[in-house]
Amino acid sequence: MDAQELSERFAEVRAEGLEKIRAATDLGSLEEARVRVMGRKAPLARARQGLREVASDERAAMGQLANSVQAELEGAIEEKGRSFEAAEREARWERERIDVTLPPPEQREGYMHLLTQTLWEIVDIFIGLGYKVEEGPEVEHSKLNFDALNTPYEHPSRSPQDTFFVKGTKEEVCLRTQTSPVQIRVMEAQQPPIYGVFPGRVYRRDALDATHTAQFFQMEGLAVDEGITLGDLKGTLEVFAHHLFGSDLEVRLRPHFFPFTEPSAEMDVQCFVCRGSGCRTCKGEGWIEILGCGMVHPKLYEWVGYDAERYTGFAFGMGIERITALAHGIADIRLLYDNDLRVASQFGGLR
Ligand code: DAH
Repeated sequence: MDAQELSERFAEVRAEGLEKIRAATDLGSLEEARVRVMGRKAPLARARQGLREVASDERAAMGQLANSVQAELEGAIEEKGRSFEAAEREARWERERIDVTLPPPEQREGYMHLLTQTLWEIVDIFIGLGYKVEEGPEVEHSKLNFDALNTPYEHPSRSPQDTFFVKGTKEEVCLRTQTSPVQIRVMEAQQPPIYGVFPGRVYRRDALDATHTAQFFQMEGLAVDEGITLGDLKGTLEVFAHHLFGSDLEVRLRPHFFPFTEPSAEMDVQCFVCRGSGCRTCKGEGWIEILGCGMVHPKLYEWVGYDAERYTGFAFGMGIERITALAHGIADIRLLYDNDLRVASQFGGLR
């Protein structure tokens, strides 16, 4: 091959190479073109082999020609690459464009369910009075749910119509129908003085209606110490009712019966809607029942092995759904369980 032929060959290689580079449509196909134009087996590399055949006095000039073709092709690839990168960057900016003047999406903060809020509020009042919080199991021995609480076998609340018993346990295990068995558990585990509140779920075979659900929350209270009187019970529960419903409302104890207290009472608070004159909320009574209470029955001390001569105490129990509904004018407690945000979001107070 002489110099003339070789320089024509380089001109062809250059033209073909530039054409291949020009034809690339993106970074991927440009890379393919680069291999085909600049690779070890590409036309340029093969044409360079012709350098060996040209006369030695022309080889240097031919070598320079080869180098300049190579440099031109490299330059073309680089330039094309830059233009693809620029285009890609542009497209990406377009894709990821954000309008910083748009208002941000609404920040929605969570809040506790109204029942939890109410329970915590109640628990807080007693913590302020020095009470400790304890919990017991929801699946309970019938012995603790009933017998230990002076509720004998014949008592109607033990009927399977009222209580969920656990299958195969011969009615020895049930879903607790009240938080009162926690009184027994706490007394069995500790010596007086005891000042405690025991919140939790309880279960009853009740048909669902505006005031009943088969699962609901109660909070139990227990104070056992030397020299505790009915006056302490009334004073304590009055403080509680005043905190929760308003300090200007009267509170009264009305005689009642519970197997595990003697004497027993229900506590009413003056209707906070009509203040005693009678309205729909209090059903014309002027008073609203809020909890059951009484002086701990000596039979319970006997069960747990306390000295009933030395210690006295009081207990109380309240339904959290009922108090929540009363405090917020909710006519149907099923609303508390429907998870309808239109209801729930009205009570976003405590976070
Ligand atoms: N356990 C009772 C119930 O479920 C409520 C109750 C009443 C609890 C009087 C007490 C109490 O501790 O002294 O209806």
